[in-house]
Amino acid sequence: MDLFKKKPCSSLGIDIGTTGIRMVQLGSNGKEIKLENYAYTETKEYMEILSNGRRAADVKMSDTEILNDLLKIINEAGITAKETTISIPISSAFSSIMELPDIPENEISEAVNYEARQYIPLPLDEVVFDWSIVNKETAEENLDKQDTSLKQNKKITVLLVAIPREITKKYTDIIKQTDLRLVALETESFSLARSLVGNNKEASMIVDIGNKTTSIIVVKNGSVLESHSTPGAGGEEITKMISHGFNIDFNRAEALKRDVGLTFDGPQKKVSEIALPIVNILTSEIKKVNDSYFNRNKKNINKIIISGSSASLPGLISYFSKELSIAVEIASPWKNIAYDKVLSKKLNQISTSFSVAVGLALRGFEE
Ligand SMILES: Nc1ncnc2c1ncn2[C@@H]1O[C@H](COP(=O)(O)OP(=O)(O)OP(=O)(O)O)[C@@H](O)[C@H]1O
Ligand SMILES: [Mg+2]
Repeated sequence: MDLFKKKPCSSLGIDIGTTGIRMVQLGSNGKEIKLENYAYTETKEYMEILSNGRRAADVKMSDTEILNDLLKIINEAGITAKETTISIPISSAFSSIMELPDIPENEISEAVNYEARQYIPLPLDEVVFDWSIVNKETAEENLDKQDTSLKQNKKITVLLVAIPREITKKYTDIIKQTDLRLVALETESFSLARSLVGNNKEASMIVDIGNKTTSIIVVKNGSVLESHSTPGAGGEEITKMISHGFNIDFNRAEALKRDVGLTFDGPQKKVSEIALPIVNILTSEIKKVNDSYFNRNKKNINKIIISGSSASLPGLISYFSKELSIAVEIASPWKNIAYDKVLSKKLNQISTSFSVAVGLALRGFEE
């Protein structure tokens, strides 16, 4: 990795999660996109939980702590890119599908602005909103192809995303105190779609299992068709249940979770039994999203991609494969990125937790 020469075009993606901040710096030489640098730090709150065995408290990182962590890892890792994109958790944004008549493309923006207030549960001056066309081909597929009257009534489907202004202000204010330049803020559904699916013509589902929440996203032809978040069903809840079940510290419960997971193996089988109800909340959410996709499209989702650090839960992929009659695979965000092969092992270990950061950095190279 050449971290010292200034690249003509570098892009930085920053994912600020509840357990850690991840950064990816990518560069392009016009032919390929290359990993220039990456960095990671666990948040102070999470480190405290792990080292003191204190159970997870709902203490949020302050803006100053986020700023200090950012400055520290930029400095320590030697991050040189300035153009930055930051993610917003799906749970902090409102997203809604809007249907518009088949109007010309240059009229869509005005129509979205006009209609938005009906879809967003907050005053429009309190949110920043964005939209993308769930492409026309997909919109057409949503119609019953046998029904010609519906065909004549073709609609444009738009995914509308609204982020409360206080959230965009928080990140804008933090970045102002660094020498980075904030190019964009985007909800993590778009970053995940970019790094894990790309322009695949078949519909894929991404399940990002984080600490406090799990996000479920359906992507097709490079468009996010829908995104859901399931607060409370993430890795932290599994650790909490193990900690209660065995009456042990949070950090011991965390170690048992990472060790035994869902393997139902040996004397520690009870760990898997305790974890199962949380995992099954996800199984039933995934089934619900797939069923509703099938009802609208008369087609199943092609595959499920499991992402987030909790994707490493032992036995999870085989459990999902058994329970869901859809192909399940583990996220591999580095697959279209060139990198020094000495990094392979390390990148492989951290891959599922870097899906969002990679997708954010990739945005810098979109046309
Ligand atoms: N090897 C592992 N096996 C099982 N779970 C793991 C493993 N490594 C990390 N986790 C769990 O993953 C969770 C953190 O996931 P992730 O890093 O994706 O979350 P985050 O982005 O910081 O949080 P969020 O997106 O919820 O704000 C924690 O609950 C942690 O216990
Ligand atoms: Mg996350």
